[in-house]
Amino acid sequence: MTAHNPPRAADHPIAEVFLDRWSPRAFTGEPIPDELLATLFEAMRWAPSSNNSQPWRIIYGRRGAPAFDRLLGVISERNQRWAKDASVILALLSKRTLQGAPARNHSFDAGAAWAHLSLQATMAGWATHAIGGFNEAAARASLGVSDDYDIDVCVTIGRRADPAGLPDDLKPREMPSQRNKASSFISEGVFSREW
Ligand SMILES: Cc1cc2nc3c(=O)[nH]c(=O)nc-3n(C[C@H](O)[C@H](O)[C@H](O)COP(=O)(O)O)c2cc1C
Repeated sequence: MTAHNPPRAADHPIAEVFLDRWSPRAFTGEPIPDELLATLFEAMRWAPSSNNSQPWRIIYGRRGAPAFDRLLGVISERNQRWAKDASVILALLSKRTLQGAPARNHSFDAGAAWAHLSLQATMAGWATHAIGGFNEAAARASLGVSDDYDIDVCVTIGRRADPAGLPDDLKPREMPSQRNKASSFISEGVFSREW
């Protein structure tokens, strides 16, 4: 039994993909075709970045491969309960320096690349779910990440499955969430005390 939420509706016209993208936890675990994975990474490639520095890096593993198990192993146990069924897990890194100096926007740029990946996956009928709940130190050691990179987030990619297979506490959460009104984050020209 899936819980219900009102369908997502935009207050102003936007591309369908923005509403269609959401973060499921029930995945089929089926293998992702090589060409599709290449397409998702290609979408990341075209993200904008500070000075066109393209500071994002990814380390990925396909379900069944040792790299997948390494990535799964650094994710929190709560998240492992569902992330284990993804087709791909990746760690998204960003380079902390730009031309030898500390980079100000590396994680921001990596976030843009993640958004590209996620929206491209949605357009292909696949889904993504970002995971901040992972052990950073364990990930750094297990994946051999050097100090000049941040590990910003882990991401699962997969095809949505029936939520019946999820742990009971996660079943009611398996639906698209809603959003605050745009007016809650907008102010023309000045800082707002209303935020
Ligand atoms: C940086 C980041 C970290 C997140 N970490 C987790 C996480 O550890 N576990 C989880 O279940 N979901 C995680 N999420 C998913 C968010 O909870 C989800 O994107 C948000 O509730 C909005 O829902 P939607 O993506 O379905 O629209 C994370 C999302 C982002 C962007």
